[in-house]
Amino acid sequence: MKIKYLASAVALMMLTSGSAMAKNDLASFHTEMGDCQTCHVTGKIKDIKKSMTDSETHENAQCQDCHGGYADLVNDKLEFDPHASHLGEINCTSCHTAHAKPQLTCNNCHNFEMEMPFADAKEKKKWDGDWNQDKIQKAIAKGPVETVDVIVVGGGSAGFNAAIAADMTGANVVLFEKAPYTGGNSMLAAGGMNAVGTPQQKAKGIEDKEEWYIEDAMKGGRYQNDPKLVQILAEESADAVKWLGELGADMSELKRSGGQQAERTHAPSGGRSVGPYLIDTLRKVSVDRKMDVRVNSRVEKLVLNDDQSIAGVVVHGRHTGYNMVAAKSVVLSTGGYGLNKEMVSYYRPTMRDMTSSNNVTATGDGVLLAKEIGASMTDIDWVQAHPTIGKDSRILISETVRGVGAIMVNKDGDRFINELTTRDRASDAILKQPEQFAWLVFDEQLVAKKEMVRGYEHLNMLSKANTVEELAQITGMSDLPNTVKAYNDYQVSGKDTDFERPDMPLNLTKAPFYAVKVAPGIHHTMGGIAIDTDTNVLNLQSWKMEGLFAAGEVTGGVHGYNRLGGNAIADTVVFGRIAGENAAKHALEKK
Ligand code: FUM
Repeated sequence: MKIKYLASAVALMMLTSGSAMAKNDLASFHTEMGDCQTCHVTGKIKDIKKSMTDSETHENAQCQDCHGGYADLVNDKLEFDPHASHLGEINCTSCHTAHAKPQLTCNNCHNFEMEMPFADAKEKKKWDGDWNQDKIQKAIAKGPVETVDVIVVGGGSAGFNAAIAADMTGANVVLFEKAPYTGGNSMLAAGGMNAVGTPQQKAKGIEDKEEWYIEDAMKGGRYQNDPKLVQILAEESADAVKWLGELGADMSELKRSGGQQAERTHAPSGGRSVGPYLIDTLRKVSVDRKMDVRVNSRVEKLVLNDDQSIAGVVVHGRHTGYNMVAAKSVVLSTGGYGLNKEMVSYYRPTMRDMTSSNNVTATGDGVLLAKEIGASMTDIDWVQAHPTIGKDSRILISETVRGVGAIMVNKDGDRFINELTTRDRASDAILKQPEQFAWLVFDEQLVAKKEMVRGYEHLNMLSKANTVEELAQITGMSDLPNTVKAYNDYQVSGKDTDFERPDMPLNLTKAPFYAVKVAPGIHHTMGGIAIDTDTNVLNLQSWKMEGLFAAGEVTGGVHGYNRLGGNAIADTVVFGRIAGENAAKHALEKK
């Protein structure tokens, strides 16, 4: 039976209104229609808990069976439809928590005013709110309930790439993700992935070199990066784009991010955001390969053997509780700590009160897990502010908007920096403005090239006008007309004599004209777990910790003190793959 979601839900609610529903929640509503088996494997209350997986696989299949897939549920009448969100086809139960108040996942970052069905249901204690040392110890004492070759902790780009690479190497892999959906911070990545020497660059006649990539990353990172890691990042980048292509991701568009000598930021065609696209592709690969990806599964502890090698993890599942899972290899790919207030306050107190573009999952779990067993940290206190987060929001305005052609001006409409400088310098320059914000200004030519800008418009973030003068008037940027005229002249001559912007792909001549107000916010934590070139985690003596690997934002060393745009996704794919392959080889050798 397929039920069209909202209309049918409301109709059924009307039918049942007046009858005595035990509680006003989704579960009671469904029970009125049938028994618990409407949603669960069994109708017997005593057996339901035992039948449930942490991913709530059966329950979610039941939702879709009755209500249809996401495409069926999109309601054109809504201004913002959560079923058409960039999070993709996540579990229905991520939002529609049946026995408790529903969660509007979108509002982890946005402020949508939306009414969810059963919004007045009772709030319940979060299943993963506590850290229960007792239960962890009991799970270890009981011993493993399962044994696999490789455990991957965290389901963003690094985690998926590691898991897929380990699976392809022949290992038996499980990926644990604490959130009700995969994607992590990667899911929110907008820009693209840096790579050098790709067929995409060749087709567009772009001259680039590995030495330039390395030079840019090192210079951007103030020469504090681990040069060996940067070399691998550059050397393996083209192969990483090829690998993504083989997995089904088209990364054919090229842009320039700040601090780069060439167009090497690869992105999906049509100016779409890279993160949702990539995660969608990787999710599909994991489904096609029948991989074991479990959400609502929070790894609470890394367990060691007496000889200090990895024995496995204790995972806390939403329904299965605390259990030890044994593995010879564990890959940490839990992302950064940009949304862990305590960690930011401790490591970078000056950024404590900044907004952040990060997903709620970016709470530094991997750093804490690894530190607890004696892992060494690199540059742990280096946190990056991205210069252009929508003012008073958590929405990133991608650096590639400047790369494609936007200019950045202050409240009066005056440019104050080369827009393509590195993001640490751009952020500093904005924070030196008395009001600590800036405007990005662009025209219709840019919108036509960058699909993601339509998203900002949809979110009502843009001021829009038919002339530059009108835009100046509605935003109060009185100098804007002069600034635009001067910039257009520089664009023709190819020389920006004010700020030496190296690349001016577009002028600002085609109406409508747009402006978006931006300010710096926490974007990336550069520091983290120390790794070697094989992604082995290093201990305080810089010896490798046998069986423990790490990749992506949870690690330190790749980016030094400041990461360049496009190098995060590159990091996750390049080192995610390496970690997965090495973790698999290690586990298979030890079998
Ligand atoms: O601005 C951006 O598109 C961000 C890219 C990145 O952090 O790599």
